[in-house]
Amino acid sequence: MLAVHLVSFYFSKLQEDPTKKVDRFLHAMRLNDDQICEISARFLAEMRKGLSSESNAAAAVKMLPTHVRSTPDGSEKGQFLALDLGGSKFKVLQVKVREGVGIRKGEVEMEEKIYPMPTELRTGTGAELFDHVSECLKEFLHEKKIDTKKKHPLAFTFSFPCEQPSLDQGFLLSWCKNFRVRGLQGKDVVRTLRDAISRAGEMDMEVLAMVNDTVATMMTCGFDDPYCEVGLIIGTGTNACYMEDMRHVDLIEGDEGRMCINTEWAGFGDDGALNDFTTEFDREVDAASSNPGKQVFEKMVSGMYLGELVRLVVLKMAKLGKLFDGHVSDALRTKGKITTADVAAMEEYRNGLKNTKDILMHLGLSPSHDDCIAVQHVSTIVSFRSSNLVAAGLSAILTRIRQNRNLRVLRVTVGVDGTVYKTHPQYPKRLHKVVRRLLPECHVRFVLSDSGSSKGAALVSAVAQRLTSQSRKVDEILSNFKLSEEQQQLVKDRMRAGLEAGLRSQGPFTIKMLPSFIFHKPNGKEHGKFLALDLGGTNFRALLVRFKKQKSRIYHKIYTIPLEIMQGTGEELFDHLAQCVCDFLDYMGVKNARLPTGFTFSFPCEQTAIDTGKLVTWTKGFNATDCEGHDVVGLLREAIKRRNDFDLDIVALINDTVGTMMSCAYEDPRCEIGLIAGTGTNLCYMEELKNIKKLHQKSGTAEKDQETPEVENGKETDRETRRSNMCINTEWGGLGDDGSLDNIITAFDTEVDQNSVNPGKQRFEKLTSGMYLGEIVRQVLLDLTRRGLLFRGHISECLKKPGIFETRYLSQIESDHLALLQVRSVLQKLGLDSTCHDSIIVKQVCGAVSRRAAQLCGAGMAAVVDKIRQNRGLDHLNITVGVDGALYKLHPHFSQILQETVKVLAPQCDVTFFPSEEGSGKGAALVAAVARQNQEMLT
Ligand code: BG6
Ligand code: BG6
Ligand code: GLC
Ligand code: GLC
Repeated sequence: MLAVHLVSFYFSKLQEDPTKKVDRFLHAMRLNDDQICEISARFLAEMRKGLSSESNAAAAVKMLPTHVRSTPDGSEKGQFLALDLGGSKFKVLQVKVREGVGIRKGEVEMEEKIYPMPTELRTGTGAELFDHVSECLKEFLHEKKIDTKKKHPLAFTFSFPCEQPSLDQGFLLSWCKNFRVRGLQGKDVVRTLRDAISRAGEMDMEVLAMVNDTVATMMTCGFDDPYCEVGLIIGTGTNACYMEDMRHVDLIEGDEGRMCINTEWAGFGDDGALNDFTTEFDREVDAASSNPGKQVFEKMVSGMYLGELVRLVVLKMAKLGKLFDGHVSDALRTKGKITTADVAAMEEYRNGLKNTKDILMHLGLSPSHDDCIAVQHVSTIVSFRSSNLVAAGLSAILTRIRQNRNLRVLRVTVGVDGTVYKTHPQYPKRLHKVVRRLLPECHVRFVLSDSGSSKGAALVSAVAQRLTSQSRKVDEILSNFKLSEEQQQLVKDRMRAGLEAGLRSQGPFTIKMLPSFIFHKPNGKEHGKFLALDLGGTNFRALLVRFKKQKSRIYHKIYTIPLEIMQGTGEELFDHLAQCVCDFLDYMGVKNARLPTGFTFSFPCEQTAIDTGKLVTWTKGFNATDCEGHDVVGLLREAIKRRNDFDLDIVALINDTVGTMMSCAYEDPRCEIGLIAGTGTNLCYMEELKNIKKLHQKSGTAEKDQETPEVENGKETDRETRRSNMCINTEWGGLGDDGSLDNIITAFDTEVDQNSVNPGKQRFEKLTSGMYLGEIVRQVLLDLTRRGLLFRGHISECLKKPGIFETRYLSQIESDHLALLQVRSVLQKLGLDSTCHDSIIVKQVCGAVSRRAAQLCGAGMAAVVDKIRQNRGLDHLNITVGVDGALYKLHPHFSQILQETVKVLAPQCDVTFFPSEEGSGKGAALVAAVARQNQEMLT
């Protein structure tokens, strides 16, 4: 009985197919379609995790944005040097790309040389590694007789995971494969390369782009195949990249177009996601690697590990007596003794078995025929699992692309490179077959990158070079708006000279320096109910102000002035104002009160008394006829009379700067300057009467003038001190009307001036105020678009429209809190269909224009405060400025730049800026209150 058993056992052993034994032993490595699909689904989830900004930090699959936004389109051109580091070979290359020859015409010339990369450099210091790289580059230049005097653009393929804030920066996340260089993790590798190149000397390189090998491979293949949107490496390491829709790339601003994402799928499983698929052999490979716990997926897939997996399986089987009759050789126990090349050789179609036998004998083993079959089968299972895992990852990527595009059928090409794919005889076929089986709805073409990744890296660099040269051109144009400190100082000097000339009113003068007949600031004793009208800013406002015990209560209503009224007849304009006032009085229920009224009129008026003033000239957008040269108070009174349904007692006419100063002085007695940075720009300040020469010229003597009892609120005691100053409305917007700012005025400013209602006038205002900044920006954008640097060279109807950029939009665009996407949506609201790249440029333009405006205002302010300081013979002046205007209040940077400029240009003055809360209407009411007191006193 026993004998029968022994015989049958002997026969069963004899007859057993050696592959079955291996199948059973490696059961866990044999993946069926369900398992592949499961792995694919897990990878898809990992991709989502890596793309989202919320989960990216914890994601094992890093999904790194590459800043490569398009596959080749044939427009790339140039001659590049290239470095290729991180695969099995380190190469230096020269790549020449001719314009318009890409996409199926493929004309790229390449010369390459492989240089050694000794093991000690792979594990040495970063400086040693990159010094070697630079020396090889230098040698290459000499050998190929490339001019070392010239600057050469350089493309850099670096096949390790790097976080890239831009195309020419890459912070190394970790080393992998057979590299473990000290001191580079977390550092910018491009910078390290640049430093090493300059250490090496004798060459001038501009590193334009650093790209991962997957990206470079996708670009290489994309040069000939427009459907190529995936790059795949199955070499020493493994990885894949693909074109993702920007709206899903949380880590980068913007949502239009696509960006290539380097998945770094090697890290799939580092968080345990593949634990139920890893075997004891995987764990052993991992434990013996230079980066345990890392690159779990890569260690199951790539060339660096396949041979080792086979060795560990064979060793274990031998130890268990399942191979070589239990015999184990020293070589079989030694790490690295079976390579991926051996795996490929064992699976060769015809010679596979013979190769297997040779390899095993070379390891000091004496394999039987069945041993050879079994070991060959181990190889097959290990490499098949590798291609199945790649198929799972690739299927996830293709599924994602198909879902992104909402396509039923996806046609796509995958560019592939790497020694395993290129040298393993069965690998490509198996991979293609599984992918096509899993994704019948995808028409996938696999293209082998025949020229390595440097061609692709050069193509990326060509695009980078074009963008760099474009952004240089933009910078060059915007440099026209940059003011050096000397230029700012010069503006300050010109402003000072302008102020003095205006006070003298002699010779040609551009700054009008209009007396306001306000001799002092409010004293807090004002009381009663007043009406204030406020014309000249963004809107017309009517206000009812009540002062009581140093407190004020304000009721107001805003009215818009239509353009046709601003630029119609004077009668129409003032009738419209009277209509608005009538409405307001009705609204407030005070129509019959004949309230004392202060009229803020934000235009230059030649005043001879507090309640009368002739409009010198319209400014900003106003241009109503028959007003210039007329008393505007009279015009308003006539309009009210024409209606004959209410009456006002207009007791004061003031400029908005004066109103603002008065309003702020009510709160802060040190306020002696009023500044408007709004639709227009202007400033008033308290000037010493003795300096206002033109007042003396007109009225005979200063003394006589000081007796003018226009605004005096009672107390006789300090009459003399109060009467020693008068507020002057500078009308500084006119600086430069004599050409004194020509050295800073750009062609864009000239264009804006020429298109305005008052060409040649208010040149300073046209460089600094809300009404014009948007127009300057528009002119620059038009120019950039004409040069093809913006909006794809297309000038839209919207961009042709004057006035599209109101101050509030400028302020929004420049806001630091606004993401690029929101800037884009502001632009889109304005009708400008911009890409994110366009939005960056528009923001830059706005920044350049508004910065100059703030600096110019600051220079003007510095001139004024220094003048006041010198008037008073002080070494140091403390002073407060009341400020109003949408530009000052709404713009995110204007006020800060203005204040910084004043600090630099007037270091002996401490200037406090006090934003006016209530507008200048309250100031007008205050002036009215004082004027009314005086009237009462006189009667
Ligand atoms: C080459 C690329 O063609 O493929 C390398 O130029 C890349 O940068 C390599 O890393 C991947 O293959 P391997 O087998 O050399 O790691
Ligand atoms: C307001 C004043 O507060 O500021 C107006 O009351 C003035 O008279 C205005 O013209 C300036 O700002 P903007 O931005 O409206 O021109
Ligand atoms: C490794 C690297 C990756 C590279 C791949 C193929 O996985 O991390 O960046 O693409 O190897 O070379
Ligand atoms: C214009 C006006 C001026 C006004 C300023 C601010 O420059 O001429 O009077 O103060 O705008 O509104």
